Amino acid sequence: MPEDTPVMASGRIAIGIDVGGSGIKAAVVDVEAGRLRSVRLRVATPSPSTPEAVLASVARLVKRLARSSGLGDATPVGIGLPGVALGGILKTAANLDPSWVDFPVVERMTQMIKRPVSIINDADAAGIAEMRFGVGKDQPGVVIFMTLGTGLGSGVFVDGKLVPNTEFGQMEIRGRVAEKRSAAAARTRRGLSWKAWTADLDEHLDRIQQLMWPNLMIIGGGVSKNADKFVPRLTVRCPVVAAQLRNDAGIIGAAIVAAEAPPPSAPAHAEPVPAAPATSGAVAEPSDEVAEPSDEVAEPSDDAASSDGIPDPPDDAATSGEGAASDAAG
Ligand code: BGC
Repeated sequence: MPEDTPVMASGRIAIGIDVGGSGIKAAVVDVEAGRLRSVRLRVATPSPSTPEAVLASVARLVKRLARSSGLGDATPVGIGLPGVALGGILKTAANLDPSWVDFPVVERMTQMIKRPVSIINDADAAGIAEMRFGVGKDQPGVVIFMTLGTGLGSGVFVDGKLVPNTEFGQMEIRGRVAEKRSAAAARTRRGLSWKAWTADLDEHLDRIQQLMWPNLMIIGGGVSKNADKFVPRLTVRCPVVAAQLRNDAGIIGAAIVAAEAPPPSAPAHAEPVPAAPATSGAVAEPSDEVAEPSDEVAEPSDDAASSDGIPDPPDDAATSGEGAASDAAG
């Protein structure tokens, strides 16, 4: 996390949205400083998670942030989505309603909120933020960022440049989609101990390692705050480190993509940071450290419940027989 310096107008801002299988998070982001400029709002992902329902939630969050931070209509919005994002359209939806596949997200969202909209894969978004402001900063060579939540998302970087839309969570291992065993949700769903789940994650990382030979792997997502419970147990041969930005990475990365998107026809996508917050002093604080008590959907901090809404089972939860590598391997 960047240092907690007094809030200053350091550059451009954009609204970042991180759509996950269980929650939608949003904040105003200073994309040059790589930090939130508002509270982090969170609402549950609607069920069923159809595009119309999810985008209606996103539109409400955008409206709320724009109002409370006094943003003009040109402030762009970046949305990280859990699927392959190409040309403004989502091409896959492993953890969202299947009606997202081929849905024209950018077109629809632009109509709804009447501001510039960009979309990106959620893991690519989080990886961009982590590479620019977190533990991946200045890391050369091939770096593989992974975010472990409801699914397992990946972002591959070569000398800091993103190779978009890699889907390492969708690899097949032991006849199953790999993320069904190695995502953070898989541990709780299967009632696995950290040790048993780590064996499955290790097997997945090892397969990726053998295909990609990266210089570094970075593990992000809510689970990264428990890195001490699994990183030391990994045997994969490249270095593996926990991400630094945690819950904010997806929001910050999505905002960066929005701010840096080439303007479609209109002028610049980003606006200068307002000199002072228009309506509330709270928006001037980074949400990682400061809760916004008056806002019922504001997220208090990284250390609250997991961003993915995944309850934490006890460390010593029983090992399940549902294909943990350790079990399956006998
Ligand atoms: C999706 C990825 C996404 C990941 C994390 C996977 O199920 O296929 O696109 O990045 O979940 O949300």
